[in-house]
Amino acid sequence: MQNKLPNDTYAPSDDTFFFADCIANETGYSALEIGTGSGYLGKILQEKFSLVVGTDINYTALKSQDYKIQNSVCCKDADAVTTEFDLVICNLPYLPSETVQDVTTDGGPEGLVIPLEIISSAAPHVRPGGKLLFLTSSLANYQTLIEKTKFMGFSVMIIAKKPLFFEELIIIQATKLSF
Ligand SMILES: C[S@@+](CC[C@H](N)C(=O)[O-])C[C@H]1O[C@@H](n2cnc3c(N)ncnc32)[C@H](O)[C@@H]1O
Repeated sequence: MQNKLPNDTYAPSDDTFFFADCIANETGYSALEIGTGSGYLGKILQEKFSLVVGTDINYTALKSQDYKIQNSVCCKDADAVTTEFDLVICNLPYLPSETVQDVTTDGGPEGLVIPLEIISSAAPHVRPGGKLLFLTSSLANYQTLIEKTKFMGFSVMIIAKKPLFFEELIIIQATKLSF
């Protein structure tokens, strides 16, 4: 996870491209991307979904998006969202860090605190039977992330892994159970 632009936008990187491959065949009516940054992944979603919303905590990133998506909102997590989506995705800031100095990469202690906050916020916005896809890494405590996501009412599995030099990227699929 490197490649920062001077304005703190996260430039599409290995993790972005890996995630892009994973969402290439996703289809449906509505999709939400939390932490859309440059808009690279949101733009791909727009080819397959009628309604795409992207959120990001960083206003500068949204304002200077290289890949403009139709509906961007500057907010934390999914805080400004009031509806349910067929698909929710997030390329998480997952790096373990004592504090969050860099919102594009820092996940807090164990690379878990910010990801859990984002997933908890996303969970009510996935329709029953819908999917939440998120990218994390072997550097983070992803096992706990999986367990906690299950407790939020999802069936969870790892759908893809990609080894890099010092870590393994991991994409997790959580399908919302219908009760
Ligand atoms: C790893 S970057 C991914 C950017 C882009 N989606 C991509 O795949 O290249 C994480 C993004 O999440 C945003 N972000 C971090 N914490 C957030 C939060 N709590 N709520 C919304 N966005 C957040 C960052 O500003 C950054 O744009």
